[in-house]
Amino acid sequence: MTFSPETHTAAAEIIARYPAGRSRSALLPLLHLVQAEQNCVTTEGVAFCAEQLGLTAAEVGAVATFYTMYKRHPVGEYLVSVCTNLSCALLGGDEVYDRIREQLGIGHDETTPDGQITLEHAECLAACDYAPVLTVNYEFYDQVDADSAQAIVEGLRAGQRPAPTRGGPLCSFAEVSRQLAGFADPRPEGVAGPGVGQPSVAGLLLAEAAGWTAEQAPAGAEAKGS
Ligand code: FES
Repeated sequence: MTFSPETHTAAAEIIARYPAGRSRSALLPLLHLVQAEQNCVTTEGVAFCAEQLGLTAAEVGAVATFYTMYKRHPVGEYLVSVCTNLSCALLGGDEVYDRIREQLGIGHDETTPDGQITLEHAECLAACDYAPVLTVNYEFYDQVDADSAQAIVEGLRAGQRPAPTRGGPLCSFAEVSRQLAGFADPRPEGVAGPGVGQPSVAGLLLAEAAGWTAEQAPAGAEAKGS
């Protein structure tokens, strides 16, 4: 398979963002770009990136296999990632994962037969203050439990796109891969969703209520050894 003219044009646009002689810095967005066309990074995708950047396939492959966001098998329209790392595990992340695994009849890094949903258990998704969390195409669903997670997946299977807790509305895995390659979400509503939530600013609000400042740490709050 050869890549589309649109992908070639987008690749040139990405590479042009970097200074002359530094094109290899474009590798990460280029990998997202080829993933946007093929729903994973294939051997052809590796070869494409290598050719565009003057790298070897081994160099590109080493990067593509290092980061978990580059997929080895085609991902469905929706990538459901359930955090089972410490904060989420303590609050039920494993139960959430097990419920979705049973619901879909697939395991980690597997896709439903209709090609609609890929499931993975994920390491920390950087939203511990909202644990337990899951993401769909990297959009967050905060403080889920097994029942609410099951309802989200049921909605996806019914052709709906349940609204994430934060951020813009859902799009397909191919579309979000293109955004990760550095191309803006063309939907006006894509940047209109709620941003930071209450748990993320709880410490700030507490400090404000107590009148604390960085120069005036409360008594006993000094770091040990200082
Ligand atoms: S442990 Fe789940 S988001 Fe950090």
